[in-house]
Amino acid sequence: MPDQAPAVRLTSITKRFPGVVANSDVNLTIERGEVHALVGENGAGKSTLMKILYGMQRPDEGTIEIDGEQVSFKTPADAIERGIGMVHQHFKLADNLTVLENVILGAEPKKRGRIDFAAARTRIKEMSDAYGLHVDPDLLVEMLGVGDRQRVEILKVLYRGARVLILDEPTAVLVPHEVDELFGNLRDLRAEGLTVLFISHKLDEVLSVADAISVIRRGTTVATRLDPSEVTSRRLAELMVGSELPTPELHESTVTEDVQLDVGGLTVRSPEGRTIVDGVSLRIRRGEIVGLAGVEGNGQSELIETIMGIRQADAGTVVYGGDDITQWSTRRRREAGIAYIPEDRHRHGLILEGTIWENRVLGHQTQRPNVRGPWIDRRGARRDTTRIVQEYDVRTPGIEVLAASLSGGNQQKLIVGREMSGDPKLLIAAHPTRGIDVGAQAAIWDHLRQARANGLAVLLISADLEELIGMSDTLHVILRGRLVAEVDPRTVTPEELGSAMTGAGGTQ
Ligand SMILES: Nc1ncnc2c1ncn2[C@@H]1O[C@H](COP(=O)(O)OP(=O)(O)O)[C@@H](O)[C@H]1O
Ligand SMILES: [Mg+2]
Repeated sequence: MPDQAPAVRLTSITKRFPGVVANSDVNLTIERGEVHALVGENGAGKSTLMKILYGMQRPDEGTIEIDGEQVSFKTPADAIERGIGMVHQHFKLADNLTVLENVILGAEPKKRGRIDFAAARTRIKEMSDAYGLHVDPDLLVEMLGVGDRQRVEILKVLYRGARVLILDEPTAVLVPHEVDELFGNLRDLRAEGLTVLFISHKLDEVLSVADAISVIRRGTTVATRLDPSEVTSRRLAELMVGSELPTPELHESTVTEDVQLDVGGLTVRSPEGRTIVDGVSLRIRRGEIVGLAGVEGNGQSELIETIMGIRQADAGTVVYGGDDITQWSTRRRREAGIAYIPEDRHRHGLILEGTIWENRVLGHQTQRPNVRGPWIDRRGARRDTTRIVQEYDVRTPGIEVLAASLSGGNQQKLIVGREMSGDPKLLIAAHPTRGIDVGAQAAIWDHLRQARANGLAVLLISADLEELIGMSDTLHVILRGRLVAEVDPRTVTPEELGSAMTGAGGTQ
């Protein structure tokens, strides 16, 4: 067998389901020892292709070669035999077993007819050391967080001798620091000579970890083996959707004279007495989107949390529709029509262990259609959840599934849909389109534009400078807790905005 044969070569793979061609003439080459990212929109056919490589689906046409040799997998056992392992989008661990038991389940080492736990333990220890996948083998899986569960899944696959590891949207369920840890693990695996095939539609992540990138659109590979140092996330996104991207932009102004939010001299200090928000004053009128640009950690999070009543102001006032709400509770603010898309959707936006419809109620448990008298109105809430799922194109098998099972983009659409319901007057939107696919991003921009035309006042925070420039009527720069500049979103460039954010160079 020649050394240079690729780890995996898929040729002309076609897979049809009734009424759908999931894969159509797919060609893909994965070299040994690389981290290869496969990107594509929801429904593009990524999971189907990986299931074919893992022996869970049979292709209708096409061939699979492993290390240069043609194979035909009837079941995953055949694929495992050839060193292919897969971690699915939804984990398949047994909660009531320990890490060790889960890892060896179905592949138990035996000694005189009994399970040789000592041998298993040694092997797992060696693997976790080699790949930096540290999880206590004796803990019950139900005690583990998502990041650790994922490491157990990876260990399980490696334990069966995988040399090619397929990860289907591994980051969808992770919070940012867990994503960093996972990427560290992937680099360690690569260093040990393993090959990783990793699915994602989060392009920034892909660019940071992949050695090569392939793009799949409507079931077919439209670009393969792109070099991440030579491609931008915008270009990848265009390949994914097959056309030029919608751009964030506002059309004619809808700004009125009515001030909806008037923040005056707002100051917030840390428990240690450090000033985090320093005398911020800003106004948002009905029909206006006010953008706030800043490098993370310059007080923007604390500012919006104070406007939401999650934090207390040390000085200054928050006036909403003419009422001084500085002392109001968060619940009262929400009831008065302030909607909130939080920065960290896993920590503040959703209960991942709750169903989709329960998440519809979250934060809105005192509002119609979720309540009737003193009671939660389950029927009303369920009906309205169905409406959100349709209007915001939340891809889910139903409203009874757990929020954790949705992809990150679909979780975000659910949050945006929930927050836009009930006719809010003010929306505090932190990174409303972060981490979601380009189609969903364009849809959220549309919703924002429509709501703005109907008189919604919006405070927009985003790390995406094009979004901030395109979607703001008025644009402030926050630096070390102070509003240091106001720039004209019609003329400012991302570069100029970027330097204003770091306090470099003169701005207008
Ligand atoms: N088992 C199946 N039966 C019927 N249709 C399927 C099946 N699996 C996937 N599909 C369809 O094939 C297409 C590609 O799906 P999938 O491979 O899951 O896409 P992705 O992982 O890129 O989101 C979708 O239209 C999906 O509905
Ligand atoms: Mg998929």
